[in-house]
Amino acid sequence: MELENVITNLVGNWNYPTAIRFGTGRISELADACKELGISRPIIITDPGIAALDMIPEAVEICQKGGLFCAVFSDIQANPVEKNVSDGVKAYKSGDHDGVIAFGGGSALDVAKAVALMVGQTRSLWDFEDKEDSYTRVNVEAMAPVVAVPTTSGTGSEVGRSSVITDETDHTKKIIFHANMLPEKVICDPQLTVGLPANITAWVGMDALSHNMEAYFSPFYHPMGEGIALKGMQLVKDFLPTAVSDGTDLIARSQMMIASTMGATAFQKGLGAMHSLSHPCGAVLNTQHGLTNAVVMPYVLERNRSAIEDKATDLARYLDLANPSFDSLLQWVIDLREQVAIPNTLADIGVTEANIGELSEMAAVDPTVGGNPVALNVDDMASLYEACINGTLQR
Ligand SMILES: NC(=O)c1ccc[n+]([C@@H]2O[C@H](COP(=O)([O-])OP(=O)(O)OC[C@H]3O[C@@H](n4cnc5c(N)ncnc54)[C@H](O)[C@@H]3O)[C@@H](O)[C@H]2O)c1
Ligand SMILES: [Fe+2]
Repeated sequence: MELENVITNLVGNWNYPTAIRFGTGRISELADACKELGISRPIIITDPGIAALDMIPEAVEICQKGGLFCAVFSDIQANPVEKNVSDGVKAYKSGDHDGVIAFGGGSALDVAKAVALMVGQTRSLWDFEDKEDSYTRVNVEAMAPVVAVPTTSGTGSEVGRSSVITDETDHTKKIIFHANMLPEKVICDPQLTVGLPANITAWVGMDALSHNMEAYFSPFYHPMGEGIALKGMQLVKDFLPTAVSDGTDLIARSQMMIASTMGATAFQKGLGAMHSLSHPCGAVLNTQHGLTNAVVMPYVLERNRSAIEDKATDLARYLDLANPSFDSLLQWVIDLREQVAIPNTLADIGVTEANIGELSEMAAVDPTVGGNPVALNVDDMASLYEACINGTLQR
């Protein structure tokens, strides 16, 4: 490549990092984190499953002991929709709150971040979809401050600048974006994930792997993102199997929590077709996000082979795989999936050939598709879905 072209490519807009309190037991600092942001009346936004666990009344108690007034809103669903956000905005306003504690997995964190955005806006949520310069419409001053507390180790939404919300009118997952949606304070307490069931631990852990891996392979220039992605993948390799087999292992839980945070930090570099294929399945068929990414992972790697062979070999070497090559990396992914009980095909999670037409139209325009190492059109997406449904990994 000509020197001039090289220099023109060495360009990027980078936004790191978030203030993170990391460590077992650090949920005890929740009230302090709120006070640092001037919050005296936080609303905890979580999902109904988490609200039923001890950690929510315990968090409320920590806030109350710290002199804060605190209420809980949990009327949200997995793969959240606009109504979850508008209901949260109503609860925020009727309780006269002055800040948000986003508490949970990706679904709860995304709703909470969107509520914190929407409490100060007059436009509709979809006016802030991540398209061109729509973020300039945001009234930034009116956004509520956010303390984020992740309870699954997967999406890394606690360090992300967007929320993924399903638009029920056209069944698409839309990305709502503003740089200030990045929570100002994060508490990563691995103890909170100890009760996460083994299957969900596996699914969200594979989401973390897919973030790190797609960020690593995405062609955009972001060396910081790439370095973080490498370490994130190594942590998944070394600790996901233990986190799944023994959820009480706090070392494995800690390392997966940071691997997840690293994945979302890294994917400012870009995502790719694992997410482009997964988002439509989640929006139309309500499949679990990380599980869907995990199923499609080897098929997407194989489809991208021609463009990523060298980088895959470097990655295999970094991960200390025997005979480092694209094939050893692919085999590791297949073995890891099996070890953590991920099914092999999309058919196993309810996606059928009858869905291919609709899903591939959506996948081809998913906002993540631009980060895939090879360009993919609707026909390419259709043949990828077919391979994922039938389990045909061409090798
Ligand atoms: N904003 C982003 O950057 C981003 C990135 C990737 C995915 N997402 C979105 O995140 C959502 C998926 O999030 P997720 O995979 O974290 O799943 P999730 O938030 O839907 O949670 C899965 C389940 O785990 C339960 N749960 C959560 N924490 C628990 C705990 N500690 N103990 C016991 N149960 C617990 C929840 O109640 C829920 O039933 C999707 O909507 C996806 O599109 C967002
Ligand atoms: Fe994801």
